[in-house]
Amino acid sequence: MAYDPTSYGGAARHYRPGRPPYAPDLEAVLAREAGLDGTGRLLDVGCGPGILTVRLAPLFSEAVGLEPDPDMLVEGRRVAEAKGLDLGWVRAVAEELPEAAPGPYRMITFGQSFYWTDQLVVAERVYDLLEPGGTLALIGHAADGRTRPPNPGSPPIPHDELEALVRNYLGPERRLGQGTTPAPGTHRFEDVLVRTRFGAPRTIFVPGIPDLRRDIESVLSGYFSLSFSAPHLFGDRVDDFAREVRELLAGHSPDGLFWDWPGDTQVVLARKPSKAH
Ligand SMILES: C[S@@+](CC[C@H](N)C(=O)[O-])C[C@H]1O[C@@H](n2cnc3c(N)ncnc32)[C@H](O)[C@@H]1O
Repeated sequence: MAYDPTSYGGAARHYRPGRPPYAPDLEAVLAREAGLDGTGRLLDVGCGPGILTVRLAPLFSEAVGLEPDPDMLVEGRRVAEAKGLDLGWVRAVAEELPEAAPGPYRMITFGQSFYWTDQLVVAERVYDLLEPGGTLALIGHAADGRTRPPNPGSPPIPHDELEALVRNYLGPERRLGQGTTPAPGTHRFEDVLVRTRFGAPRTIFVPGIPDLRRDIESVLSGYFSLSFSAPHLFGDRVDDFAREVRELLAGHSPDGLFWDWPGDTQVVLARKPSKAH
């Protein structure tokens, strides 16, 4: 789908406070699976506010985040600098690779961003950008089919009611930038990658956080961080929407805390052979 630069308008500052983190063991699992040893280069594509770029940078000698939304890049740079990390940041879409961020890379990651791209084309370009033996990792949350942990004692986030509220404000169709969200494709990333030079990938799951609790402001930020309910879509009614979300949530939880179960972290791993053809 063609990139709409307004997709995440106003969302960048809500992303980190609003989105559930990936699995705590993600770094250790990626290091083991891909043989990472603190050398080589990382490219994190569709890095948003540098979620994976910052977390994974210590596993490499150099890390680069690539992202088309300038406000997301500002957030990524801010967090990296606060942690004393000197990372590279490139404003581009994945389809502008390889020129936008020349290789070679030991690992190229996409955190909940591969589905935004022209997947077959981008996967082939990623293949060329990887060093021999390098790894592509498609990372995201997976709740469907995963064992749901026991409720730690807070009400779950009332997503059905919150999404109904979004529809009250924005209409029945899911919005995206200046248009609407295309119907989600039915294919899996595995089915895309098997058609590329990578061949069949391997999918692993890293245990998610079983007892993540979020307060009302964090749940609201979560909605503002999503493309279908990003702040720009509400125009001058954005404060009314925020007030209604806060009221709805306060009515569900006496202490204002909610249990968030994003699922385990799914990692689809595809390796370029050491002797590449
Ligand atoms: C759901 S966010 C993921 C952010 C971060 N990678 C993470 O793991 O949380 C998706 C990001 O992909 C970016 N994006 C959208 N289309 C893209 C494209 N064609 N190429 C690269 N990034 C894109 C969006 O701007 C957004 O920041």
